[in-house]
Amino acid sequence: MEIRDSVAIVTGANRGLGRHFSTQLLERGAAKVYAGARDPKHVDVPGVVPLQLDITDPASVARAAETARDATLLVNNAGISTHTRLTDGDLDQIRLEMETGFFGTLAVTRAFAPVLAAGGGGAILNVLSVLAWAHFPDYGAYCSAKAAAWAQTNVVRQELAPQGIEVTALHVGYMDTDMSDYVAQGEKPTQRSSPPRRSTASPPARRRSSPTSSPRASSSSSPRSRRSREPTINVRRPI
Ligand SMILES: NC(=O)c1ccc[n+]([C@@H]2O[C@H](COP(=O)([O-])OP(=O)(O)OC[C@H]3O[C@@H](n4cnc5c(N)ncnc54)[C@H](OP(=O)(O)O)[C@@H]3O)[C@@H](O)[C@H]2O)c1
Repeated sequence: MEIRDSVAIVTGANRGLGRHFSTQLLERGAAKVYAGARDPKHVDVPGVVPLQLDITDPASVARAAETARDATLLVNNAGISTHTRLTDGDLDQIRLEMETGFFGTLAVTRAFAPVLAAGGGGAILNVLSVLAWAHFPDYGAYCSAKAAAWAQTNVVRQELAPQGIEVTALHVGYMDTDMSDYVAQGEKPTQRSSPPRRSTASPPARRRSSPTSSPRASSSSSPRSRRSREPTINVRRPI
């Protein structure tokens, strides 16, 4: 899938990774980027097309697919993390995690698959987590939703392949966004916690974006809620 000249739609594009995706897609030559957001007034990336999209609202999803009929690339980025335990946590929160991470992602994929197919194919990227694979008690709802979305990704890839649609997942380990705002500064990964670069004869690759375009720096001032938290993992010993 070539990003250049693609028409992308990103869910949850008003802050965090989704906002960063929108910026980078434009920088890397996408012809158009639809920035999906529950409240499109919060979309502040110059050049994108704000699009109302609540992935848990079937009417909203249907409207978005009707509007973005030229889409060729779908980034299922929107997500929540409620820190809910499975055995004694709030069942409504567990359902909300599944409604968002599994059913919401699936709803958007189902709505946009015919759009991509009509354009001759395209690509879908599901933003998942290392917690699709590594499962911890205090984050049971999130782990379950991401693990289910991983299975979803693997099945949808096979179902949509005949239509020329590529489906893959991005398993993120840790990002400094609102979702992880509860992590103390000292616990956050630094450049020093990265493994040393192997020496090479070629000069180091130049950064394509300015430091201010990172998810952390580009997050809007949207209110942070406990419903939107990603558990941290031991960054010194990545799983
Ligand atoms: N941060 C991490 O360390 C980390 C690690 C692994 C994976 N991830 C995954 O990366 C993705 C992006 O997370 P982030 O770190 O950028 O989190 P974030 O800063 O909390 O942003 C989450 C985004 O998802 C949107 N969203 C939530 N529920 C939605 C819904 N029902 N419909 C539409 N949009 C909805 C939010 O919109 P509102 O502004 O309206 O709430 C917001 O734009 C998520 O899938 C997350 O699970 C994050």
